[in-house]
Amino acid sequence: MSIALVILAAGKGTRMNSDMPKVLHEIAGAPMLVHAMKAGATLNPERSVVVAGHGFDAVAKAATDYDPEATVVLQEEQKGTGHAVMVTREALAGFDGDVVVLFGDTPFIQPDTLERMVAARADHAVVVLGFHADATEKYGRLIMQDDALQSIVEFADARDEERTVTFCNSGVMLIKGTLLFDLLDAINDENASGEYYLTDIVKVARDAGHSATAIACDGSETMGVNSRAHLAEAEAAFQARARAELMLDGVTLVDPASVWLSHDTVIGRDSVIEPNVFFGPEVTVESGVRIRAFSHLEGAHVSRGGIVGPYARLRPGTELAEDVKIGNFVETKNAIIDTGAKVNHLSYVGDAEVGEYANIGAGTITCNYDGVMKHKTTIGRNAFIGSNTMLVAPVRVGDEAMTGSGSVITKDVEDGALALARAQQVSKPGMARKLFEMLKAKKAKRDEGKE
Ligand code: UD1
Ligand code: MG
Repeated sequence: MSIALVILAAGKGTRMNSDMPKVLHEIAGAPMLVHAMKAGATLNPERSVVVAGHGFDAVAKAATDYDPEATVVLQEEQKGTGHAVMVTREALAGFDGDVVVLFGDTPFIQPDTLERMVAARADHAVVVLGFHADATEKYGRLIMQDDALQSIVEFADARDEERTVTFCNSGVMLIKGTLLFDLLDAINDENASGEYYLTDIVKVARDAGHSATAIACDGSETMGVNSRAHLAEAEAAFQARARAELMLDGVTLVDPASVWLSHDTVIGRDSVIEPNVFFGPEVTVESGVRIRAFSHLEGAHVSRGGIVGPYARLRPGTELAEDVKIGNFVETKNAIIDTGAKVNHLSYVGDAEVGEYANIGAGTITCNYDGVMKHKTTIGRNAFIGSNTMLVAPVRVGDEAMTGSGSVITKDVEDGALALARAQQVSKPGMARKLFEMLKAKKAKRDEGKE
């Protein structure tokens, strides 16, 4: 059965106290909305529809940046979750599969939970995802009779005995698509909140002779974000889970709590991550790599056998081939560094290509920016760049070439050549001693004057 994904993201999120729509606040470097879309994407939806309202343009941009095929529809006024799904009518025209509804502020629904819902759909027209909560929580209550879901009662509308029910609505629902809009046409806003409740379609479906059920998942999956404090809790929950998964996948995290991961961090087996390492978005690390303490990586790929850090900063566009070494206080950006090359100390390598087994001496800088434009530096294989070389781009240092330390290289260096671009050394025999004596005498005279 084909699936259409509907993500409700029109609400303002007043309690975030933010100019930015709630669903754009980030967890592990991606907007909450994208987490929800990623969860839904595991069902291979044929159509994806995001319902946006507050901050429409920004929400639409985030949605289509992640999935250019997504349709974003405007819910001008937020009249409830049922109303929000009603506005997808046109976007879902002609669709006859199953519709799964997710909330943009509920980012952690797991793929296998969605799969279980799909399996349950075989016997029911509506499948609701529930979880067990404290009786004091204000979630909608799932009124069950054995396996059958009779209705969902919102907390505000619930009678006392209904409020004692602890099986609660997560908001995630899977509905037979051909029924959806008929069910929605039958709901109204006559309730405590004056809203069109999506949850009311359960009773409507039952009354029309269709069956509904609810399956349960762990409360950690249905965790919603309504405030900055929830956001921090969600971030912590994400980090804890992602670290645990990496360790299960055979990655050593020496001090897991101090390693920060992004939603898309990939690390291969038998890699070792030392304490206090930060992974920004779009980092892939292959197997057998060591990322040493206090390194900061984003938009970088580290191949097998690499050693990075301590205190390295790999910026976007960094591509390290196998067995590359990046040492302390080295920054790379938009740099392709070939097999076995070494940049061990205090360097900046940006807009550059470094050939295999080249050695970049301490303090080397690619001067890639002229104040207006960026330029490229190319360093050949087995080249040896002397310490403190300034490579003024655009410039190329050939294969097996060498630069003398302290050189300012402004012209290409041919293969195999040694380039020296620094002032000639002048030596004056005995001059240092003379100078010392002169200075000492001067100081003695000055000290005398003070007494
Ligand atoms: C909803 C459920 C409740 C459930 C709870 C779980 C309904 C009527 N109630 O309540 O049973 O226990 O979630 O967290 O569905 N939204 C729109 N447009 C609207 C209204 C909401 O896009 O007009 C979006 C919000 O941005 C949010 C989601 O729908 O992402 C849920 O809305 P919210 O107002 O938080 O619903 P709850 O009152 O929490
Ligand atoms: Mg809510």
